[in-house]
Amino acid sequence: MGVFTALRSGGLVLAVACFLLTSAVTHAKTRSTSQPNIVFVLADDYGYNDVGYHGDQIRTPVLDSLAKSGVILENYYVQPVCTPTRSQLLSGRYQIHTGLQHGVISNSQPNGLPLDCPTIADKLKESGYSTHMAGKWHVGFYKEDYLPHRRGFDTFYGYLGGKDDYYDHTQDYWFWPYLDWRDEKGPIFDEKGNYSAQLLTNRAINIIKSHSRSSNSKPFFLYLAYQSVHGPLQVPDRYTKQYDSIRNRIRRIYAGMVSAMDEGVGNLTQVLKDTGLWDNTVFIFSTDNGGANMAGGNNYPLRGQKTELWEGGVRGVGFVTGGALDKHRAPKASGTVNKELIHVSDWFPTLVRLSGGSLNGTKGLDGFDQWDTISHNKTVLSCEEVKEDPLKNLWLFNITADPTEHTDLSEEKPDVVVSMLKMIKSFNDTAVPPRFPSDDPMANPSLHGDVWSPWQ
Ligand SMILES: *[C@@H]1O[C@H](CO)[C@@H](O)[C@H](O)[C@H]1NC(C)=O
Ligand SMILES: *[C@@H]1O[C@H](CO)[C@@H](O)[C@H](O)[C@H]1NC(C)=O
Ligand SMILES: *[C@@H]1O[C@H](CO)[C@@H](O)[C@H](O)[C@H]1NC(C)=O
Ligand SMILES: *[C@@H]1O[C@H](CO)[C@@H](O)[C@H](O)[C@H]1NC(C)=O
Ligand SMILES: *[C@@H]1O[C@H](CO)[C@@H](O)[C@H](O)[C@H]1NC(C)=O
Ligand SMILES: *[C@@H]1O[C@H](CO)[C@@H](O)[C@H](O)[C@H]1NC(C)=O
Repeated sequence: MGVFTALRSGGLVLAVACFLLTSAVTHAKTRSTSQPNIVFVLADDYGYNDVGYHGDQIRTPVLDSLAKSGVILENYYVQPVCTPTRSQLLSGRYQIHTGLQHGVISNSQPNGLPLDCPTIADKLKESGYSTHMAGKWHVGFYKEDYLPHRRGFDTFYGYLGGKDDYYDHTQDYWFWPYLDWRDEKGPIFDEKGNYSAQLLTNRAINIIKSHSRSSNSKPFFLYLAYQSVHGPLQVPDRYTKQYDSIRNRIRRIYAGMVSAMDEGVGNLTQVLKDTGLWDNTVFIFSTDNGGANMAGGNNYPLRGQKTELWEGGVRGVGFVTGGALDKHRAPKASGTVNKELIHVSDWFPTLVRLSGGSLNGTKGLDGFDQWDTISHNKTVLSCEEVKEDPLKNLWLFNITADPTEHTDLSEEKPDVVVSMLKMIKSFNDTAVPPRFPSDDPMANPSLHGDVWSPWQ
């Protein structure tokens, strides 16, 4: 479920919250006999209107067909920016409970997802999974202990910071580019020139192939956090050819970037199918936040964009599919659209349950197990919404009737406003102070072999 971060910085309160109508905790029922493989693909800054099944400008045949074969989450929420979403996905906890509510972690900040939060990879490993990550980390790396392979992932390949060059795999420090590309053994210097969507897809494919060849019968968890489709606007020309009709250059390149990702997902799922692993795989696709308009993204018809608490910032593209879902799905759940409220913090308990694992040892979780909601279309939660003019700082919207947030109901329904504010307050009362340390000059990659690396 989710009650979203209800506050906007700068003093304005944007109350966007949801009622918890019934206990959302579904009790672990009969555990599946076999533990499914879990593939979680996270796109970066991917807008609501940028998937074929929402908008017709960008073509995503692979994502469309995967989504339509599974369950499309149409009431699915994420955080408006990167680190908060990723930290919630990995820990099952809101950023108000991990100190990461201030925003994204800069490369030079001595900060990270607290080490006392086990990650989803820790828990799946505990359940007997082999665990792999390819792509963007962005939840802190100032000490070795914060690196992905110290946080539950057996293997890691990708980058640690927030915004790399797609070909050079560098990120700037005071306008100078430094390598940010590594695996669990250390920096990788010789992959300059290869486009990241291809590199990350190939890595994911190699993991799957080696899993299918190995006699080890462990299930696997693969977290593929694409760089696509975050800025900078970079993509091989062949992906933009089909978009000559899009006159806006930024949008055209962005569309090509989406197509490269779509192709990558197609390559990956083809290998899962060819190796027979698909039948026992749960495949999840999600964005980390809404699209950024300046960087080509588009969230039409939703209001707002990345960094904002309007629907365009937080209502995410997401779906679940895979042979293991088909096995669990209620036969009568024949539709493909699920409108129950689901939040990125829900994946942690949901996937731990699917793995047959226990939540023992985790700190208080904010997410809920949503497997019955997804597989049996169970109504668990119902959503209402809140929100306010330049000086107005509170509005109330019924997102079901008014997904584009045009009709403020706050004056009409003061009782609802009051009860939701009370909810926000009760969440706020549990918040830990934000942790947002100053940039540390010791992070300068030139002190560490010209590579972005842990420095403490
Ligand atoms: C990088 O690209 C080159 C040229 O296309 C290719 O030969 C090489 O295998 C690629 N490397 C990786 C790691 O994909
Ligand atoms: C997908 O596979 C095709 C055929 O092997 C390859 O040319 C293409 O580069 C791959 N795309 C990605 C994004 O990995
Ligand atoms: C879930 O139930 C709703 C309402 O009955 C229906 O419209 C939708 O198609 C169902 N979705 C799935 C995935 O079965
Ligand atoms: C949970 O962990 C505690 C402490 O490690 C242990 O005493 C307890 O038996 C565990 N409970 C379950 C259900 O595994
Ligand atoms: C919100 O709108 C939906 C669709 O019009 C309606 O069914 C529902 O009752 C409304 N909710 C509230 C609390 O007014
Ligand atoms: C949340 O708590 C902080 C301090 O604990 C307080 O300054 C702020 O006004 C509270 N916000 C709400 C909406 O209650």
